[in-house]
Parts: sequence; C-alpha cells; structure tokens
Amino acid sequence: MSVTSPRDDLDGDSSARTVVCPGSFDPVHLGHLDVIERASRLFDRVVVAIGVNPDKPQGRRLLDDEGRLALLRETTAHLDRVEVAGFTGLLTDFCHDVGARAVVKGVRSGTDIEVETRMAHMNQHVAGIDTLLLPTAPHLSFVSSSLVKEVHGLGGDVSQLVPPAVLTVLRQRLG
Ligand code: PNS
Repeated sequence: MSVTSPRDDLDGDSSARTVVCPGSFDPVHLGHLDVIERASRLFDRVVVAIGVNPDKPQGRRLLDDEGRLALLRETTAHLDRVEVAGFTGLLTDFCHDVGARAVVKGVRSGTDIEVETRMAHMNQHVAGIDTLLLPTAPHLSFVSSSLVKEVHGLGGDVSQLVPPAVLTVLRQRLG
C-alpha cells in the first residue's frame, strides 16, 4: 500500500505553507510573540499582519501604524521565517495577497475561542480562509495589550510580560 503524506500533496504549492498571524499589536506582548514563534516552527512562512480592530477605541491607541510595525519588526528579527506587514480592509484579502490559505491566532480563554470562532467562520464563508487557534502559553494566558497599557500606566510592573523594546516605549509614552 502506498502512503501519501499530506505534505507530499502540497509540494510545489507555496501558498499551503504560508500563514498569517493577524492582530492589533498595540503593543506586541510576550503572548503574541509566543504564538508567532510557535507558528514559525510549524509553517515555512509566517506573515504577521498588523490591522485595526474596529471594536477597539481608536482614542486609546498607544502606537500609530509605523510604531507598531517597527516594534514587531524589531521583536521578530531573530525569526527567519517571519515577515511583518500592515494591512487595511479585509483580512482575507490580505491573505490572498500574500498567498496564505490560513490564519493562526492565539486564544487565552473560552471568551477568546468564542470570538475567534465567529471570525473564523466568517473568513471561511467569505473567502475559504481557514483559521488555526493556538492556545496561548499558560503562564501568559492573562496578558493582553490593553491590560499591559492600563497596569503600566498606573505604575504596575509589566516588565515580565513585554519585550524590552516595548517596555522602553511604554516608559516614554506613559511614564
Ligand atoms: O488583536 P485583535 O484585536 O484580536 O485583531 C483583530 C483583527 C485586526 C485581526 C481583526 O479585527 C481583523 O481581522 N480586522 C480586519 C477587518 C476584517 O477582516 N474584518 C472581518 C473579520 S471576520
């Protein structure tokens, strides 16, 4: 009996090995980087896509597009398979533009799974893009960009939760 691995079937089809890791990344934290690193061990090419979440108040943004892009490029520079880009419009259009058939997102909780599953179904419905949900590392499962900003802004220590470059920016912006 001949056994064909899925991997053999995909040979020559580079889009099958590219995934997109999307997010707002305002700012990037260690939970994000854990997911990006793990995705880069599973796939040949990971494109980190910096977008805007319409549900998050723009008035409370810490970083503009260039700032988020610069920090993500700096903090993923050691990962050969990772690229970083900004996008506007539909995430699925961006996936098509970079030749990705799937999105990888981290999930911290049941609430995340519910929210991400709804978006995954929509992205599958409109464009046939699949979503793979990676559970966040347990020791980082409470970390979010909004909590990092809030706690740092009120004088709490977030130095174990963000890369050093982000800590520097937090200190410059929020004191
Ligand atoms: O880090 P976040 O806030 O979870 O990122 C959410 C983001 C930016 C990935 C999401 O809002 C998104 O995909 N926005 C692009 C617009 C889009 O495609 N909307 C339809 C989602 S089903």
